[in-house]
Amino acid sequence: MMLTVQNLTAGYGTAQVLHGADLTLDQGRAVAVLGRNGVGKTTFVHALMGLVRPSSGSIRLAGRELSGLDTRRIARLGVRIVPQGRRVFRSLTVAETLEISRSPGEWTVERVYQIFPALAARRRHRGDQLSGGEQEMLAIGRALLGNPRLLLLDEPSEGLAPRLVEELGVVLAGLRATGISVVLVEQNLRLALEVADEVRCMVKGRFVYGAAAGEFAGDGAAIAAYLGVGS
Ligand SMILES: Nc1ncnc2c1ncn2[C@@H]1O[C@H](COP(=O)(O)OP(=O)(O)O)[C@@H](O)[C@H]1O
Ligand SMILES: [Mg+2]
Repeated sequence: MMLTVQNLTAGYGTAQVLHGADLTLDQGRAVAVLGRNGVGKTTFVHALMGLVRPSSGSIRLAGRELSGLDTRRIARLGVRIVPQGRRVFRSLTVAETLEISRSPGEWTVERVYQIFPALAARRRHRGDQLSGGEQEMLAIGRALLGNPRLLLLDEPSEGLAPRLVEELGVVLAGLRATGISVVLVEQNLRLALEVADEVRCMVKGRFVYGAAAGEFAGDGAAIAAYLGVGS
């Protein structure tokens, strides 16, 4: 198992947000984490990355315990996050951002430009001159340059025009073929189903539903219950 999360609890001060989250993910597979606003999806991926300290439970990456390690250490073990809201450097160019994100491994700046030709065309532009879609590609490119075994994506489609969400879906689906394991937090059901093998739905800091993506796609009651009508 690439990732095994057991009975994970975490929160902020006295406010507990994760109430015993369990999740497993095989190597080269993608799981979509779905759920309404405020249920704890971001807190979950932040706990995996060591950005939020778990108060109990276990997070194992290929058998290695991550819980309690700091973010830098977790990154060195092969985990990268593309944060919600992207958070690209506003004053650095695309090329500069990618250059400082390089580390030895199979991912190169050229390879990032190959999967995101739009970024190559924008290499001299600063972060604050990019569209939301380009910023998302840059944030993903930066994460890939860390050669992750496990990639965490927190609502990559948020605020993107439908055409860009489609492009993003193609790229993310393509990443699966590279053997990388993906945890994709999404509210866009179509994108989630296009990219993920499995779906897990979170309610109040716990996963209460799990199914193969195809099965979830046909379960209108579950979609309405966990994502809300109109998704
Ligand atoms: N830094 C923080 N400090 C205090 N409370 C937070 C913080 N971040 C999130 N929360 C609270 O934790 C709960 C879960 O938030 P979050 O994990 O961001 O949910 P989601 O990503 O599913 O929308 C919410 O009630 C939110 O207000
Ligand atoms: Mg969130």
